[in-house]
Amino acid sequence: MTVEGSGSARRTPRHVACVMDGNGRWAARRSLPRTSGHLAAETTVIDVIEAARTAGVQWLSLYAFSTENWQRPSTEVDFLMRLVRRVVRKHAALLHARGIRCRFLGVADPRIPPALARDFADLMTLTGENRGMTLTVAFDHGGRRDIVAAARSLIRSGMPAEAVDERSFAAHLPFPDTPDVDLVIRTSGEQRISNFMLWQVAYAEWMFPPVLWPDFRAPHFVECLRAYQQRDRRFGGVAPDANGERRP
Ligand code: IPE
Ligand code: IPE
Ligand code: MG
Repeated sequence: MTVEGSGSARRTPRHVACVMDGNGRWAARRSLPRTSGHLAAETTVIDVIEAARTAGVQWLSLYAFSTENWQRPSTEVDFLMRLVRRVVRKHAALLHARGIRCRFLGVADPRIPPALARDFADLMTLTGENRGMTLTVAFDHGGRRDIVAAARSLIRSGMPAEAVDERSFAAHLPFPDTPDVDLVIRTSGEQRISNFMLWQVAYAEWMFPPVLWPDFRAPHFVECLRAYQQRDRRFGGVAPDANGERRP
């Protein structure tokens, strides 16, 4: 039985989200500056996008920069802004050729360089009609900020309090067509949400591979998909019996 909202996970997750963590430690282990770890992350990003597409994942979300990451030293923040711009420009044509629809979630802080924001907007426009896989890059993203923004938008709409339910609330989140996250992969062994897509991960399965993001490759990603397929997603219900039925 695979009705929406229940069922086993024995299929490819529709929406996979990655918290790309461990760049700084990867660099530190090599006595390199933290920025070297961010540089090395580019290869992983491209590998994972390709692995997800090949596996038939329809939605892939990557956490690239959090609202909390502004607290980092300005040299690191500036480096990340320049790196992300370079990566976006370098791979735009390939992403488009692969039929990937690209989106950027967040991107609200005035400290974001205008040229970078323009490149994000250009890539969203270029790939907006693609239907292959939707890649959402969470950049200057905070799950709480999105929820507050949705509450503001709902209040502005004048909807009476009694009419607000989960569905109408979710319709005010950014990119409201985004389905719930099925699987979150956080590399580097850290076991935290770190303010990532809080609404959408409500019933996600979680994996915490110890490998650092710059060392993470397609086989690691495929292994996470395989482990996901072994999970029984109950959504508060009961486990199925040998016939796949969910009887009390
Ligand atoms: C993730 O790696 C990249 C960003 C948050 C931009 P980190 O930079 O957090 O790496 P660690 O956690 O310090 O190893
Ligand atoms: C979360 O990683 C944000 C991104 C991966 C972009 P952090 O390394 O910033 O999170 P904390 O500090 O471990 O919670
Ligand atoms: Mg980290």
